[in-house]
Amino acid sequence: MAKPLIIANWKANPDSAVRAVVLAKKIEQAARAAPKVEVVIAPPSPFLFSIGHILRRTKLGAQNVFWEDLGPYTGEVSWRQLKHLGVQYVIIGHSERRRYLEETDEMINKKVLATLDHGLIPVLCVGEWERSGNEIPAVVGEQLKRALKRVEPSRMKNLVVAYEPVWAISTNPGARADTPDSAFRALVYLRRLLASLCSRRAAEAVRIIYGGSVNAQNIYPFLKEGKMQGALVGGASLFPQEFAKIVVRASDT
Ligand code: 13P
Repeated sequence: MAKPLIIANWKANPDSAVRAVVLAKKIEQAARAAPKVEVVIAPPSPFLFSIGHILRRTKLGAQNVFWEDLGPYTGEVSWRQLKHLGVQYVIIGHSERRRYLEETDEMINKKVLATLDHGLIPVLCVGEWERSGNEIPAVVGEQLKRALKRVEPSRMKNLVVAYEPVWAISTNPGARADTPDSAFRALVYLRRLLASLCSRRAAEAVRIIYGGSVNAQNIYPFLKEGKMQGALVGGASLFPQEFAKIVVRASDT
């Protein structure tokens, strides 16, 4: 079985490379103490270079990617440049980018295709804005299907899907974590949909993780009862002690 995957998504934090390196060193220590967990730090792109140099056990992730190689694309960072920096994972389609940068399903699809084609691991975020009742809203499936258009079934095994209900993200008003039970329903729903897009076997190989108000108290139930294969951690990843506890709890599963 794959190790639980715990990804620190720092979003647009912290304010300086010096602070970022201090934080990364603490996370690296936590990762070294938990060899049964795969730990990834996804810092803002200006810090990728300095953080990449100090990580040994922790892998490097990016929060965005541009699908073209090199060229006249002002402000973008391409997959080739990320690879040169030692990046292995790329968060794609985060709800904050969909919301504030108007990232579309079509753009997300291009990013997924480019990363898979060039040996980067996409962490594709899907999740509904609102939930009423127990059903997983159809929009989650639509996001998944549109993001994976034209992806070769043989490439699916390199994909990570992060189920991240937007209402559960800690910075959103009234946020509360999903329950492990409902996260499990989302996992089953996503896995079935993946199987319909490729094969059951390929779908089984996709790692599905949870994001939204993850902390040291709830990580274990999400992994154990929710059967999630990891977590995408926002706010708590900026607090090294809390994040270290999340990693330790994940290694108990
Ligand atoms: P929080 O862990 O702060 O809820 O953020 C979740 C998230 O958006 C991770 O990508």
